Amino acid sequence: MGNTILIIGACGQIGTELTLKLRNIYGSDAVIASDIKEGANALMQSGKFEILDATDKDAILQVIKKYNVKQVFLMAAMLSVTAEKYPNKAWNLNMNSLFNILNLAKEKHIEKVFWPSSIAVFGNTTPQSNTPQETITEPSTVYGISKVSGERWCAYYHDKFEVDVRSIRYPGIISWKTKPGGGTTDYAVDIFYKAIEEQKYTSFLKENTALPMLYMDDAIKATIAIMETKKNTKYVSYNIGGISFTPKELAAEIKKQLPNFKINYVPDSRQKIADSWPNSIDDTVAKMDWNWQHEFNLEHLTTEMLKNLKIKLNPAATTKQSV
Ligand code: SER
Repeated sequence: MGNTILIIGACGQIGTELTLKLRNIYGSDAVIASDIKEGANALMQSGKFEILDATDKDAILQVIKKYNVKQVFLMAAMLSVTAEKYPNKAWNLNMNSLFNILNLAKEKHIEKVFWPSSIAVFGNTTPQSNTPQETITEPSTVYGISKVSGERWCAYYHDKFEVDVRSIRYPGIISWKTKPGGGTTDYAVDIFYKAIEEQKYTSFLKENTALPMLYMDDAIKATIAIMETKKNTKYVSYNIGGISFTPKELAAEIKKQLPNFKINYVPDSRQKIADSWPNSIDDTVAKMDWNWQHEFNLEHLTTEMLKNLKIKLNPAATTKQSV
């Protein structure tokens, strides 16, 4: 096996679907999933799985040697809301896991690394609309500080030790297979569960708070595209924009398909985090450098989310209806 891939944090929101997609493309033997605990059945049954702590470099090296791993996707991280509660833990997890992988690449145990950055690298001093690739990055959250530091370390290892590390500044990711946990953009996933289960949702963000978002299929497409591009990419971490919407706009779109749906707004501490992040992202550079283009707009993602979640949350009823 020449080019085995290891996913660390494979049971998380992005890790789960990334693993399934990579197994689909490269074959299930070529993609090893790992996490600190087991994940969804679909993931566990689709190929090899190792229990692995992202902060344990020796354990990671053992897995790399066992399977002759050449590429690592490091998807384990503590997101913005949880990181505010546990700053030390977040810093240790987010930074030590990255150092482990960058050092393993520097020591030539692996050839290529993917590391997720985030719109959280931006802060209150950043231009909020159409935020450019190169701009002020003064984050006010623990998570954002770990991501902006991570970007600098990736660039440093790239320039100084020729480590092939690639990265994307993910916006909020909308998906139905695995829930996100502990993020500020999570409302845009939770709202769909509540819309189906209770026909109502209480938003923890104000109605007009716009944030950049992306449907999971687009996020996975971007991740694979940046890892596969043969071009010399100018930046280590790229802005990618997709769509941008407010809780009010999302609710209106859901209401088109579920007319009884109701939303109310009770903003909490997460509002301050959202206010510090961009409303929308300029991804012209990603478009030029590696042909990035998103596919899913708000209407399309709403349709996909409602359709798939209805089946996931109530499979029996859906089967009965369709007979
Ligand atoms: N989705 C993340 C969060 O909300 C942002 O990268 O924390």
